[in-house]
Amino acid sequence: MQLPKVDRRMFFKGTGVVVASLAASRFLAACSTDSIPRGYGGEPRPLPIPPLAEGERDGNRITYRLNAQAGQSQILPDVATSTWGFNGAHLGPTLTARQGDEVTVEITNQLDEMTTIHWHGMKLPGQADGGPHSPIEPGETWSPSWTVTNTAATLWYHPHPHGLTGLHAYRGLAGAFVIEDEVSDSLDIPTDYGVDDIPLVLMDHRFHEDGSLDEEDLPDLGLLGDTPTVNGITNAHFDATTRRVRFRVLDGSNMRFFNLQFSDDRPFQVIASDSGFLAEPREVTSLIIGPGERWEILVDLEPGEDITLRSGAFPENFGVPDDEYTPDFGFADSFDLLTIAGPAEDAAQAPAIPGVLDPAARQEPDLIDAPERTFILNTFSINDQMMDMQRVDVVIDHEGPEIWEVTNDNSDWPHNFHIHNARFRVLSLVGTDVEVPTEGWKDTVSLPPGATTRLAVEFGYYPDPAWPYMYHCHMLYHEDQGMMGQFIIVEPGGQPAEQLGHGESHAH
Ligand code: C2O
Ligand code: CU
Ligand code: CU
Repeated sequence: MQLPKVDRRMFFKGTGVVVASLAASRFLAACSTDSIPRGYGGEPRPLPIPPLAEGERDGNRITYRLNAQAGQSQILPDVATSTWGFNGAHLGPTLTARQGDEVTVEITNQLDEMTTIHWHGMKLPGQADGGPHSPIEPGETWSPSWTVTNTAATLWYHPHPHGLTGLHAYRGLAGAFVIEDEVSDSLDIPTDYGVDDIPLVLMDHRFHEDGSLDEEDLPDLGLLGDTPTVNGITNAHFDATTRRVRFRVLDGSNMRFFNLQFSDDRPFQVIASDSGFLAEPREVTSLIIGPGERWEILVDLEPGEDITLRSGAFPENFGVPDDEYTPDFGFADSFDLLTIAGPAEDAAQAPAIPGVLDPAARQEPDLIDAPERTFILNTFSINDQMMDMQRVDVVIDHEGPEIWEVTNDNSDWPHNFHIHNARFRVLSLVGTDVEVPTEGWKDTVSLPPGATTRLAVEFGYYPDPAWPYMYHCHMLYHEDQGMMGQFIIVEPGGQPAEQLGHGESHAH
């Protein structure tokens, strides 16, 4: 395939390029094996486990309360960092719900600036989606409600104010949202939260000398960090008490892709992708995850052993040229994420891993007569346009699935693609030599340079002409720079409203 020679640099007219690559090689050196990032080395600290949110349950109604607040955290071992979190100084509690539950979340903004909260991966009415049209001003409370139709999966929540999503997530506004259903109940897999069922929120940060977050956007790279964190700290350690552990891995970073593997290259089982269980487990020795994506994995541990979950250099540099003209997105970096100690000798043997997880995950959507749409991602644009809060890019006036064909038209930038209120099957991913894992139902897919993917997309059907949903690159610097569009779901023959959301523009 002949790719147009990238015109991205024209945005900067040559100003950013050299600076970008110099800055990049300098700060990313901290991430490579030859030098140890700040906060690593020395004694590891116990992996923090985000608490389970305490909801108030009444039958199948559950109400959660989240306060977005500022505080001080110990991301690094030796210094305090000002951060944001929900119901605490950093990150947020894990929310849980069952399929069929009616969920209400009362979110109070105790920060001194506006933010929004989006339920990434959830099918729900546009008014509850928490995108850029749902600002929560300081001191205000926003209380969306919806009925959970998603199947068992690890979803997550994070801010979405247009132009500021990256910064707000970087400061720590993010948490997991776990959905359970009859399938997850029936499987003989680890389900004891905090014991053998562990969320791992992967991020990366940069720090000033005094421990404060470095919030400066790097040219082309935004808030790509040089210091990996897991559940909000560096150099984390997990003492396993069981022979099998389920990790729900979330890439909550702004810009970083991770190539997950264990220090001894042991095989592990992938059991779920973004939107739920795979039909059957898939054994791998490494697994790529990009911003916004989730994978659930099972790893077996022997008593007394020590292993490390790490991120390795990407095969073929993820298709991104490794030269002085291309920003260093970090695909060559390798670094430790989490050290793990095996269980005690007397830990019970783990049962056989179920051969079948969710047979329904095998079903392909019925694509007869499915409309097709094309999305070309290039630099900060989609189909040559940047995000406009009052422009509707796509109108969907039917309930059935659609085929979305998405191309990363840049020859040297990675992108990924996320759709709100939807899940999709990846029908194909071509145009690249890089192998991208695409199993199961997903809501975000990673796209190496030149890749084209065809997605069979199932939307939640909540027709409403005034409340749009977003699709965007989930590399948050790209999203914030405008790599996002809006779609509206209406009744057959319906039209979008004149004014979207509450009609105000909260563009940054
Ligand atoms: Cu996590 Cu608009 O997305
Ligand atoms: Cu989303
Ligand atoms: Cu992008």
